[in-house]
Amino acid sequence: MKNKIIAANWKSNMTKDEAKIWINEATTSIQESDLNIIVFPPFTLLDMLSGYIKVNDLNFSLGSQDISPFPKGAHTGEISGELIKEFADYVLIGHSERRSDIGENAEMINDKINEAIKNNLKPIVCISEIDQVKFLNFDKIMLAYEPISAIGTNNPMNPQEVSQKIKELKSEKNFDFLYGGSVSEGNINDYLKEELISGVLVGTNSLNPQDFINLIKNA
Ligand code: PGA
Repeated sequence: MKNKIIAANWKSNMTKDEAKIWINEATTSIQESDLNIIVFPPFTLLDMLSGYIKVNDLNFSLGSQDISPFPKGAHTGEISGELIKEFADYVLIGHSERRSDIGENAEMINDKINEAIKNNLKPIVCISEIDQVKFLNFDKIMLAYEPISAIGTNNPMNPQEVSQKIKELKSEKNFDFLYGGSVSEGNINDYLKEELISGVLVGTNSLNPQDFINLIKNA
């Protein structure tokens, strides 16, 4: 479906060799698609993949899965927006796994959005509850609504219920919304048909190239 976003979140997966296989297998389907495909690989693959996209003139974009809340400088282990923007156009912020694994809170998430915007990176901020929207100090950003019960569980939320939820969320702030949580080749079209859903964030089913190819063919 033209212009809808398919964001592939590889999480902490994919070695260099696995990523090369994924690219070799998925490139033709991606090239034939009129979807807006964004791949979020681990940081370790951004350099290789951005080089590959440039050399082969491929029509998908890259995003990082996180960004430092600090500008570049003396922050050991952090990856600042200035370093990311050499390789990527998007950044995923506040995924529920980071909120629970690392304890990311509203203040950190707002700092990260600020760093992304300062560096011309487009943030996609993940939320699972209405309260998490209230704390965002920004207006024109894209959000991904991902109910925790639907992530990695094969228990996706019903598309009409997602639309209803997005209506409620939009009454807080008029963001654009993606949906994420157990999106598959079997249900992707039901989400993309919903006017209020601008696209999907796919985890598990973006890892195997054939699953991803089937998913974009059905979109
Ligand atoms: P899933 O993950 O597709 O495996 O449910 C989605 C996400 O966590 O972004």
